[in-house]
Amino acid sequence: MSLPAPTAENRAVVTGSSSGIGVALAEELASRGYSLILVARREELLTALAEKLTKKYGIVAEVRAVDLSNREQRAPLAKELASRDIAILCNNAGVATFGPLAKLDLDYERDIMELNAVAVQDLTLAVLPNMIERRSGGILVTGSAAGNMPIPNNATYAASKAFTNTFAESLRGEMKEHGVHVTLLAPGPVRTDNPDQNEVGSKIPEFIWVTAAHTAKITIDALARNKMRVVPGLISKGMSLAGQFGPRSITSVVAGAAYKKLGG
Ligand SMILES: NC(=O)c1ccc[n+]([C@@H]2O[C@H](COP(=O)([O-])OP(=O)(O)OC[C@H]3O[C@@H](n4cnc5c(N)ncnc54)[C@H](OP(=O)(O)O)[C@@H]3O)[C@@H](O)[C@H]2O)c1
Repeated sequence: MSLPAPTAENRAVVTGSSSGIGVALAEELASRGYSLILVARREELLTALAEKLTKKYGIVAEVRAVDLSNREQRAPLAKELASRDIAILCNNAGVATFGPLAKLDLDYERDIMELNAVAVQDLTLAVLPNMIERRSGGILVTGSAAGNMPIPNNATYAASKAFTNTFAESLRGEMKEHGVHVTLLAPGPVRTDNPDQNEVGSKIPEFIWVTAAHTAKITIDALARNKMRVVPGLISKGMSLAGQFGPRSITSVVAGAAYKKLGG
């Protein structure tokens, strides 16, 4: 089975499409003819992107300004997606914090779990029944190489991405017989134009970065082929393998020391 072809009615949904990888995923899908539903909190950025992609690719782009970490705001979106013809869902929105957990804002740490993990499950559950019934659809989950290992000084993020990584790869096994594609994007550092990246980004050597546009292209190609996991960039692939297969007692010490420099 391949992904559903774009039609006038169906939509590709991209969460976290007001900046970074989400913008690149939205543009990649629009360039392949998919009309979009763009989701994030900053409505003005979503609207600007919708206008740009509509003009450039002749698609339809709808905007939903929703705080996905808020269950009350998320519920109507999930209900809408369950009732629409969703060809592709890209669960991409996510945030990270750096530093010892006890020193961070604990309410915000709870919100990160809600956004990075629970919302991913929620929106996926919303679109799944129609995709199974149609025997077609694509679900992309943006996890992270950080989800492969324990990371002191990044505990909530690493744990939330362990959820997304395992959720996507487990679901893929269940969906094979239903014709629904499920792919995990588990990147190392991806350079985006998000100014928030500057502080952390300057502490990571330049050769490790890959671009968001390249990431989006190979990710949508991979989703079309129902690949299990995408890790863009050779260096990130190496780091990812070390995280997945290295002894956790060692990787946690090495990763913890590196992340301490990022904000600990
Ligand atoms: N860039 C990397 O190096 C890298 C590496 C590994 C994994 N990732 C993962 O890739 C995904 C995208 O990251 P990025 O680097 O592109 O980050 P980014 O530029 O900061 O984008 C994050 C997106 O998530 C949205 N978002 C944040 N909080 C939200 C909320 N409460 N409700 C709805 N939307 C929310 C943001 O929009 P609003 O602020 O407008 O809501 C924004 O569109 C994340 O899941 C991240 O964990 C990134």
